Amino acid sequence: MIDYDRYDRIRAVQWQGDALRLLDQRVLPLRTEFITCATADEVAAAIRNLTVRGAPAIGIAAAYGVALAAKAAADAATGLVHADALRDAFSVLRASRPTAVNLFWALDRMARVLGEAVSAERMEHEAIAIEREDLAANRHMGELGAALIAPDSGVLTHCNTGSLATAGFGTALGVIRAAYAQGRLARVFNTETRPWLQGTRLTAWELLTDGIPAKLIADSAASHLMSTGAVQWVIVGADRIAANGDTANKIGTLQLAVAARHFGAKFMVVAPSSTVDMAMPHGRDIHIELREPKELLEHAGQRVAAEGVDAWNPVFDVAPAELIDAIVTERGVIERPDAAKMSGMFGSA
Ligand code: MRU
Repeated sequence: MIDYDRYDRIRAVQWQGDALRLLDQRVLPLRTEFITCATADEVAAAIRNLTVRGAPAIGIAAAYGVALAAKAAADAATGLVHADALRDAFSVLRASRPTAVNLFWALDRMARVLGEAVSAERMEHEAIAIEREDLAANRHMGELGAALIAPDSGVLTHCNTGSLATAGFGTALGVIRAAYAQGRLARVFNTETRPWLQGTRLTAWELLTDGIPAKLIADSAASHLMSTGAVQWVIVGADRIAANGDTANKIGTLQLAVAARHFGAKFMVVAPSSTVDMAMPHGRDIHIELREPKELLEHAGQRVAAEGVDAWNPVFDVAPAELIDAIVTERGVIERPDAAKMSGMFGSA
């Protein structure tokens, strides 16, 4: 049994009943600040500007954004909200970020509950259910993923997939937490995750908070690290898993998968079933978000590249299914994923 009081202490998305409180991930870990969103527009802006980030967390935040809009639009006498009144809220939230399917999954689920009209209270309960189910899925995936890891292993993770990116505990970081708690891990490494530094700023802080000894590495040190034999599993989260198992995740995931195969390390993807998109046949069709060049041209708000330098800044990439040894979801583990195994577990779209 895992001591969740030690390994699950951070909550980035906090529903207050009449507002959504978000731990501002743009300024962590140097400052602990919250922003409060009172409208769907404010939630969409917080998703777009990365105040809240990570595939499951943005789905949860978007669901609460709809719940806020429902409360504002509800008929005072009946408490009912009509679909027409929420059209703008849905569309601003849908447009906030393109790659993580959890956002669209959560909005579709809220839209199904809404139908033509429903009480605002029912919408709020659905958003709360989405959050609770995510936490339960993460804790279950932690156990499933940790069971794949032999004692005395080294692991490497990328980006931030912890409590900050989810309802709590995390996906890939949840597996690392569970494996560490079970005494399986001899070494934990995490990448800095340029350009936004989710690894340096967020994952390293979560690991430190838990008292899990870990070493931060430059993204460009990952192949060299694997060449030493120090890593048995690369463990990452996902933003969208296609029907054939191809997996979109933070930029740099693809090169980790290639290097892992080359050096004989195994590659694990950990994500709830809300990240699986059975309507997307292949990873190559996944919309990869491009963010502003200035994320690369500046450091801490200061220009570091010469004026006139341009940059290309895709923030996700796709690891093909053939480089993935295991996909762990709350429904179970798929080893060496392919389309047949995926549809066996998730059905067809
Ligand atoms: O741009 P971000 O920080 O939202 O990207 C996050 C990732 O790529 C995570 O690995 C992914 O969302 C899984 S989080 C459990």
